Amino acid sequence: MPTYTRIIATGSYLPEKILTNKELESIVDTTDEWIYQRSGIRQRHIAADGELTSDMAIKAAHKALEQAGLKPSDIDGIIVATTTPDRTFPSTAVIVQAGLGMSAGLAFDVQAVCAGFIYALSTADGLMRAGQAKRMLVIGAEKISAILNWEDRATCVLFGDGAGAVILEAHEGQEGAQSDGILSTHLYADGSFKDILYTDGGVSLNGISGHIIMHGREVFKQAVNLMSDAVTAALEHNNLQVSDVDWLIPHQANIRIIESTARKSGFSMENVVVTVHNHGNTSAASIPLALDEAIRSGQVKKGQLALFEALGGGLTWGSALVRL
Ligand code: UT7
Repeated sequence: MPTYTRIIATGSYLPEKILTNKELESIVDTTDEWIYQRSGIRQRHIAADGELTSDMAIKAAHKALEQAGLKPSDIDGIIVATTTPDRTFPSTAVIVQAGLGMSAGLAFDVQAVCAGFIYALSTADGLMRAGQAKRMLVIGAEKISAILNWEDRATCVLFGDGAGAVILEAHEGQEGAQSDGILSTHLYADGSFKDILYTDGGVSLNGISGHIIMHGREVFKQAVNLMSDAVTAALEHNNLQVSDVDWLIPHQANIRIIESTARKSGFSMENVVVTVHNHGNTSAASIPLALDEAIRSGQVKKGQLALFEALGGGLTWGSALVRL
């Protein structure tokens, strides 16, 4: 029997502090109306001073463990997708491991910016199919506020902090569209776009973490085309139609990108999970945050088929088809 992996639990965490569009009006030359019309964002959560990416990841992980009825010692692998690690090294994943009181199993970070969660999910799926682990925590966690230029109105109004986690479990069984779990993942990158979304700092570049620089219109255009290609790839690979999929769970960057990608892929917005209005763009945390909220609110149910899609700096992008 082949091994496949299932998402058995989800958890998430948002920092206490909420920053509204109205409050941003006193920080940069912007308006609530501009932000909402151009992005769909009403508010975002911002981590407290001293609240680290690992702190948020650990809280999301505890929620997922609680939902699964598991102890940290039941987990034998952790991958954290993040662009905003606590430190240059060690990885945020080992800090999370220590924070959960674990001292065994594999742990490392994945850096694929806003596509990080799909990259991490795919990596964990591959490791588990290869027998490297039986239960893994895959976490997207970001303190994006730490790399925002709070004088750049074109970027600082769009992002937020938070963390989302899933627990993956290895199972033996039938693969294919009717089976549980991750049916397929599809990862892509094109470094020729590295200069349309990046930070102006880095360890070997200048020794600082830098701030986000984004050519918004160009990213927008590429995002819609490339994410809808990734959606098509997932459907074709599994011989499925749009009507077979219960939920599109996209990276939450901008409602206009979400709507355009859904339209181009043939999805009705009734089948799209949207949280961008309350969270802003939380980068690698956005899909697991949206998934957890949708499951806990009862919107998304066990047994339903969900298609994740994301795009981030690099450019990196991808999709994953998962029966929940
Ligand atoms: O996670 C993946 C990475 N990120 C994304 O997916 C984001 C991709 N891009 C976008 O979401 C959109 O391009 C933005 C929301 C960033 C911008 O929307 P847009 O419709 O592409 O606007 P724009 O960049 O073309 O700017 C339009 C105008 C400009 O003024 P002028 O040149 O027309 O006079 C900007 O200076 O809006 C101005 N502007 C603002 N005005 C008020 C830019 N930022 C703001 C602001 N408030 N915060």
